[in-house]
Formats: sequence, structure tokens, C-alpha cells
Amino acid sequence: MTRNTQAFDHWIRTRFVELNSQLEVLYAQQPDRANVVGIGDELKLQLEHEGRELIVSLLAEGNTDEGFDHAFDLLGNVGLYMAACRRHEITEPSRETTSPLVEASALAMHIGASIGVTPRFATAHLTTHNRAKQGVYKRFTNLDAEKLFVDYNTKGILAYKRAADALLKIQPLGIDHPIAYDLLLVAKRALRDVIDSNKVLFQQLDADDFFYCVRPYYKPYRVGSQVYRGANAGDFAGINVIDMLLGLCAANEPEYSQMLVDKFLYMMPEDQSILRDCMRRNSFMDELLNMTHLNHQSWYQQNVKLFLEVCKLHGETAIQHHNQLVTKYIANPSIKLQQPHLEKVTASGPPLPVLLNSLEQLRDRRAARKRDDINTRFADVATLKASLEVC
Ligand code: HEM
Repeated sequence: MTRNTQAFDHWIRTRFVELNSQLEVLYAQQPDRANVVGIGDELKLQLEHEGRELIVSLLAEGNTDEGFDHAFDLLGNVGLYMAACRRHEITEPSRETTSPLVEASALAMHIGASIGVTPRFATAHLTTHNRAKQGVYKRFTNLDAEKLFVDYNTKGILAYKRAADALLKIQPLGIDHPIAYDLLLVAKRALRDVIDSNKVLFQQLDADDFFYCVRPYYKPYRVGSQVYRGANAGDFAGINVIDMLLGLCAANEPEYSQMLVDKFLYMMPEDQSILRDCMRRNSFMDELLNMTHLNHQSWYQQNVKLFLEVCKLHGETAIQHHNQLVTKYIANPSIKLQQPHLEKVTASGPPLPVLLNSLEQLRDRRAARKRDDINTRFADVATLKASLEVC
């Protein structure tokens, strides 16, 4: 790490958190908590100015070729600064055609393009690749709600990744291999971990604190002339690896592949290659459907039963995400929101009803629910279930 990189990292971990936290206190004291206009203007100027000074030195330093990890980490720091400026409406993408944060944009684009990721902060910066110092990892604020949210996003992502890793290891063995059973068991436990961790998040996270003080840091913002959608906990390959290897979602479905195409650059490069590879594979569901005539064999009975349990649990995580987390923390608070703030609710940009509809489709695909308007594996799951009953 160069001296300039260290100075910026130190600022992000200290003063930046103080300034954001002070601003959050001021916003929360208003009758309309969603308003940020005309509040804490002096603090906002300090935030913008102090960050810019540090970034100017970094930009002048140029490409110091410190390796991927340092470059990715620095991109995260620039991204946190740009996202905070957007949260406090120091920048606002609908007001501008290019980002007024000229130096930050230049640095972010330089790094993003050189390492093959989007030039903004992504979920990995705050979760799976967020280096702690003396027990504290990088955050926007010192608010308990933010820490809880990031902790449980990280736990959820890591658990999904454990499930995905286990399923990927079945690939070279075959779903009819006796050891595929052990790997399905690992996936089952990991998906249970997702459910348990989501449950704690749902019980403990305060809906207003999340909606008014945490979520706004995840809004889209402009880097240079382009607006980049906000970060969300789904920006890792594991969830889609599970979808596609189980066979609940398919890469040749237009809505689903659109989502994959849109998320590639928001993921770490290693996740991008895992996902690319997975998009070319057959699903276990399709393989098993071709083997139903073997249903009298004991491996079939064991592996198919467990496979269906894994599918069911994956569906349960999706139902929980949509019916609990999205409903309690995004959809319901949006109903109370005053009109001028309403367009700016989601991290991905589309209007809320459009976003909710696409999340609902994902939920129903993952849960293999019966739907007439989109393809789901409802009938195929029923076929596999029926094949177990014959013996
Ligand atoms: C995407 C809300 C926690 C996994 C999304 C989206 C929303 C959302 C609204 C759509 C993208 C957008 O924001 O525009 C929430 C809320 C959470 C939460 C309110 C908690 C308070 C989590 C957790 C996980 C997770 C803990 C587990 C890893 C995903 C995934 C996606 C996603 C995988 C991408 C779409 C998909 O493949 O389902 N989330 N989320 N979320 N979230 Fe969450």
C-alpha cells in the first residue's frame, strides 16, 4: 500500500464514518426523515472537500501496480466516498449529466477498467472482501442497524457460497455418484444456515433505521457520465450457481439471463468466471429426469430425495428474502414515503413495482411454484417426487 492509499484508507475508516454518522443524526431529527436538502451543509462540504484532496493525490500517483487486492480495495474506498456523496445529495444523477466528482470518477474508472469490474463500490467491498482493522471493518456510519445489516449480508452470502461450492463439486462426479449424497448434505446444511441468518436479520433489524439511514448509501450513482446501479447482496455468483445447477432457473430464459448479464461486472473476477462456466452446464434436475427409469435403485432413491430437499430449501430462502426482507424493509416503508422521494427507493433503479415483480418471478422459479405466465420446474419436481413413490 502506498502512503497516499494508506492515508485515504485511514480517512475512510475514521473521519468519513464520523461525518456520515453526524449527518444521519441530523436527518433523523426531522419530521420527514427522508429529506436531506438544506441539512448539515457544512458537514457535507467537509466530506466532499476532505475526500477530494486525498483522491487528487491518489490520481496524480497513477497506476502504481500494487496488485489486484490493493486495487480492488482502493476502488472500494473511492466508491464508498462517491456513494456517500450521492446519499447526502452532494451529487444526484438525475440533476447532472456527468459526475461533479471528477477526480474520484477518473480514479474509479481507471481502476475498474484495469481489473475488470464495475467502477463503483460493490457488495464484496463491504462484505466478503472488507478487511477488518482491530476488529472493525469498513462501514459508512457507526449505526447499529448498518453493522447488523452488513454482518448478516456477509453471513448469508458466505452460506450461499458454501452451498454453491458443494454443488459444483458434484459436477465431475455425476449426480448418480454415491458421494453426491454427501455433497447434497453439505448444500442442505448451508441453505439452512442462510435461512437461520435471514431469520435473525428479520427479527432484529429496525425497519425505519434500515430504510432511512442504511439503504440510501446503496443508491445508483454516476461515475463519469454513466449511472451505475446500486450494490445489492446478490452480486456474487453462488446464488445463480445454485439456481442453475439445481435446474430451478435456466440461463436461456430471457429475464433470467438479462439479470446475469447485468450483474457480471458487479462481481469479483473469480465469481465472473465461475458463473460463465456454470451457464454452459446441464442441470442436475435435467440429468435426473433422464434417469427416472432407474428409480428402483437405492442411489436413486437416496440422491433424488435429498436433491428435492435441497431444491425446497433453496425455494424457502427465496420466499424468505421476498416475503419477509423485501416486504418489511423496502415495500412497506415505501408506502409511507412522500412522493418526491419515492422514485429513489431501489438500488437497481427500476420503479418499485417493476423491481418487486421481477423479484417475485425469481422467488417462484426458485420455489418451483405453479405459474402460467413464466416457466417454472413445478411439473418436473412433481415428476421426480412421483418417481420416488413407485418403490
Ligand atoms: C436483491 C432487498 C438482504 C440476497 C435484492 C433486491 C432488493 C433486496 C430490493 C433487488 C435489488 C435492488 O435493491 O434493487 C433486501 C433487503 C434485505 C436483503 C431489504 C435485508 C434487509 C439480503 C440477504 C441476502 C440477499 C441477507 C443473502 C445473501 C439477495 C440476492 C439478490 C438480492 C441474491 C439478487 C436478486 C436475486 O438473485 O434474488 N435484495 N435484501 N439479500 N438480494 Fe437482498
